[in-house]
Amino acid sequence: MSDEVSFDLSGKVMIVTGAGKGIGKSIAETAARYGASLALGSRTVSESEETAEQCRAHGVKAKAWHLDVTDLESIDRFVAQTWDTFGRIDSVVNNAGYNSPKPALDYTEDEFDFISDVNFKGAFFMSTACARRMIDAGIEGSVIAISSQVGVVGGPLRSIYASAKGAVGQMTRSLAVEWAPHNITVNAVAPTFTRTPLLEQAIKNPDFAKNLEKIPMGRIAEPHEIAGAIIYMASDAARMVTGQILVVDGGYTAV
Ligand SMILES: NC(=O)c1ccc[n+]([C@@H]2O[C@H](COP(=O)([O-])OP(=O)(O)OC[C@H]3O[C@@H](n4cnc5c(N)ncnc54)[C@H](O)[C@@H]3O)[C@@H](O)[C@H]2O)c1
Repeated sequence: MSDEVSFDLSGKVMIVTGAGKGIGKSIAETAARYGASLALGSRTVSESEETAEQCRAHGVKAKAWHLDVTDLESIDRFVAQTWDTFGRIDSVVNNAGYNSPKPALDYTEDEFDFISDVNFKGAFFMSTACARRMIDAGIEGSVIAISSQVGVVGGPLRSIYASAKGAVGQMTRSLAVEWAPHNITVNAVAPTFTRTPLLEQAIKNPDFAKNLEKIPMGRIAEPHEIAGAIIYMASDAARMVTGQILVVDGGYTAV
């Protein structure tokens, strides 16, 4: 192992789920700038195709395939396509997420299952599908999930989402311990409110300003500010970091 501190991702292959827009798109484009080849998964392939095109402009290989993280067969197919095309997987970024905020008393069982499946079950089975290949091939890689600040502190109108993101945090710690002997690191990034399509509607609501008062830095995050944390965790600079949840929240959870 080199004693140089390096954030370079050249030669590494990274999977990003939900890469068609928002934070996932920014992670993919930033990783491409740092030299990674990208396998991009999304339910809407045309969107992730566009992201792949932008990644290739940085001189790296990038492919987009259909992926529904709530469907285990779709996960296996996607991981096999990635392996057959690139011959390795160094990092997987479980970014796909979904929320539908409402009072806890109003949620149906179907909504519970869907929000849990996209945010938690999908991240779990994508992680195991990739780690199985990494372990078999002796690859010292990284598994990274996008949690949320409400996965750390909880929040109103987000009970199922916050629970699922909390589960992602516990998954992160547990898999980190289990896969440390294989030199696979497992970490999560927990963003505050970030300017993406997922947040677009909420920002329009005049009540949204109240959220800013809870962020000591006084503003929401931009997608590239989340991507920066991912580059670190996927890079050799973070080889000794595992089982951690890095909140990128302008101080929201520090209060
Ligand atoms: N935007 C925020 O304020 C914020 C804050 C904290 C955490 N997060 C988390 O960051 C991640 C990215 O969020 P975003 O704001 O960019 O959201 P977004 O809605 O803009 O993008 C989410 C992406 O996930 C994809 N996706 C959703 N369900 C999927 C499925 N079943 N299979 C495959 N892909 C699927 C969507 O197609 C989309 O490309 C999510 O995990 C979200 O929970 C976002």
